[in-house]
Amino acid sequence: MRLSKLQNKLSKNETYSPAEDTYFLEDHIKNEKGDAALDIGSGSGYLTKVLSRSFHFVVGTDINFEALQNQSNKTKNLVCCNAADVLSKQFDLIICNMPYLASDEILDIATDGGPEGLKVPMKIIKSAKNCLKRGGKFLFVTSSLSNYEKLVENTRNEGFDAEILARKKLFFEELILIEAHKSC
Ligand SMILES: C[S@@+](CC[C@H](N)C(=O)[O-])C[C@H]1O[C@@H](n2cnc3c(N)ncnc32)[C@H](O)[C@@H]1O
Repeated sequence: MRLSKLQNKLSKNETYSPAEDTYFLEDHIKNEKGDAALDIGSGSGYLTKVLSRSFHFVVGTDINFEALQNQSNKTKNLVCCNAADVLSKQFDLIICNMPYLASDEILDIATDGGPEGLKVPMKIIKSAKNCLKRGGKFLFVTSSLSNYEKLVENTRNEGFDAEILARKKLFFEELILIEAHKSC
């Protein structure tokens, strides 16, 4: 996609306000602690802030520059990039509240995951692998509205041990939390 077209598309995307999926992930990270943590898709900064209470060094990335500029929960070390592509540091914990909705096109970068809800999440998962410490943990959220079983399988094929850690039923979907560790 040409840069001007991509920028035009990004500028139409509002910052994602903390929602059920944000709080679901929060419940599973609030007791985590360690040296370094990365929040991919920081959005409002809500989860990045949660991490900064118990990790010494925290980085938040987002592809949406305006979201980072206007964060309601400001943290240090924010990077505008795809997933973890420009980072060379290794993290003990990586989290991502994925844009997981199955969609034909990516019209809303905060929520649309592409066909079966796999395209964007898999790009993020591949990128995260380079920055995850051996023995580190990668937690990400998906949903019953996407092909989450295939997402787990594809994550394993990328060199992770991956399991469903928790589920939460909502009115219209089930949130699914996946825990992954580097297997090779
Ligand atoms: C569902 S929102 C989650 C926001 C926030 N972490 C939360 O839990 O409330 C997904 C976020 O990921 C960002 N995002 C989408 N695709 C991305 C990518 N390829 N790399 C980095 N961030 C991305 C979006 O801009 C959005 O802020």
